[in-house]
Amino acid sequence: MLKSAMEGRLLLRPLLLLLLISSLFFIKISSSSPPQQIQILTAERRIDLTSHIVRVFLTLKAENTGASQASEVLVALPPTQAEHLAVIKAASIEGKRKKKTVLPLDVNPIELADTPNGACLYSISLLKPLKTGDTTTLEVLLILTHSLEPFPKEIGQSESQLVYYRDSALILSPYHIREQTTYLKTPNTKVESYTVVDPTNRAGTELKYGRYDSHPPYSYSPILVHFENNHPFAVVEELVREVEVSHWGSLQITEHYKLVHAGAKHNGIFSRVEYQSRPSVSGASSFKRLLLTLPPRVHSVYYRDEIGNISSSHLRGDSYKSELEIEPRYPLFGGWKATFVIGYGLPLQDFLFESSDGRRYLNFTFGCPLLETVVNKLTIKVVLPEGSTEPSAVVPFPVEQYLETSYSYLDIVGRHTVVLKKENVVQELNAPFQVYYRFNPIFLLAEPLMLASAFFLFFAGCIAYLHVDLSIRKS
Ligand SMILES: *[C@@H]1O[C@H](CO)[C@@H](O)[C@H](O)[C@H]1NC(C)=O
Ligand SMILES: *[C@@H]1O[C@H](CO)[C@@H](O)[C@H](O)[C@H]1NC(C)=O
Repeated sequence: MLKSAMEGRLLLRPLLLLLLISSLFFIKISSSSPPQQIQILTAERRIDLTSHIVRVFLTLKAENTGASQASEVLVALPPTQAEHLAVIKAASIEGKRKKKTVLPLDVNPIELADTPNGACLYSISLLKPLKTGDTTTLEVLLILTHSLEPFPKEIGQSESQLVYYRDSALILSPYHIREQTTYLKTPNTKVESYTVVDPTNRAGTELKYGRYDSHPPYSYSPILVHFENNHPFAVVEELVREVEVSHWGSLQITEHYKLVHAGAKHNGIFSRVEYQSRPSVSGASSFKRLLLTLPPRVHSVYYRDEIGNISSSHLRGDSYKSELEIEPRYPLFGGWKATFVIGYGLPLQDFLFESSDGRRYLNFTFGCPLLETVVNKLTIKVVLPEGSTEPSAVVPFPVEQYLETSYSYLDIVGRHTVVLKKENVVQELNAPFQVYYRFNPIFLLAEPLMLASAFFLFFAGCIAYLHVDLSIRKS
């Protein structure tokens, strides 16, 4: 939490009230709707395994079979998936085909001990309570990271990368499911093996489990799929993004990357000749280029590592976005790492605004500009101009927040720096966030005044020195 006395006091009372109301509400919901009163009529699950980030699309048609109305629907995840969950989103679907509307819903984890199979539960809050006998259609998106296990664990330069994916043929759910089907999409047709849970069919890049009829709550049937996946397993172990606001007209961004290829480890020696002469078979799972999406009107871009500037980068852009393509010094194979820094400037007027209450705010994008990458640890530091007060951040999802003071040249009191931290970040979290603060324009004059007085003192000193005769003369 950000510490700001004024705001704290102002926010405390409504916040407490809200907390009280919501906790009352929560207790009421939990006690009035035991899971048994819902049944799933149809469930369809599509699991996309084409990248190294696993995306699960779940469509549920739920019916309220209880005596009272229901205000939430629960979804369950096995503990291994809950541990690697980066995003969970839900929406309710209303109307059919052309008139279909998608309304986003709140999803919150619930702490419940002793669920069968160690299932972790998430509660989807419905917009309006579901009456007895009514049905609703829900769509749930789950994004899982680090869920494909390379096997074999080590491969040579000319070998393809094979991975394991583990799941259940039956959708884990706290409810009875009448009909369900699961589809797995693999990157290509090279599937080494898969568990058969009748009926199971494979056609092209699709593996179909089901249709399964009438399964009781918490049914689980483990499956293991072994297939080829040469998608670049680009993982940023740590990313620190520094966003420095200068009221002199620009926003300076510095990004420190610690990148690793998290696929099957490379074994044997690396032959650059073979790599360059047979690019289609040699190092199929390696990558040598990375693409970053940056805001439009980006300028003064640099890309360097501990050795110095790396010249191999290309910038192109239009009025909506800029694309920066970078090439590390060497292609990355499984287990190899690259550490580099990317810096750029942006016009301040595109990101800094004034809110109706007179505060200024920065509106910037959360997440990582690298596409299709997992960031294990992300830190965003927003360095505000010296003299700004009452900083506070608004982020659309839970993040760790705190305040620091950083110093740069000519700073006297230091700059408020808002630090935001999140683990397990994927590009679906690249949403706008805001940092609000107050600023007195008189501070803009502080640095020039300081410089001017320093120069004045220096010259005054010089003049005094030249005019004072310090020599010892015999009279
Ligand atoms: C690296 O590039 C930046 C920006 O283009 C430039 O300002 C800097 O002088 C370069 N440094 C070296 C060591 O070449
Ligand atoms: C922040 O910017 C995004 C577009 O980049 C815009 O959709 C959003 O409304 C802005 N938010 C605020 C609070 O200005």
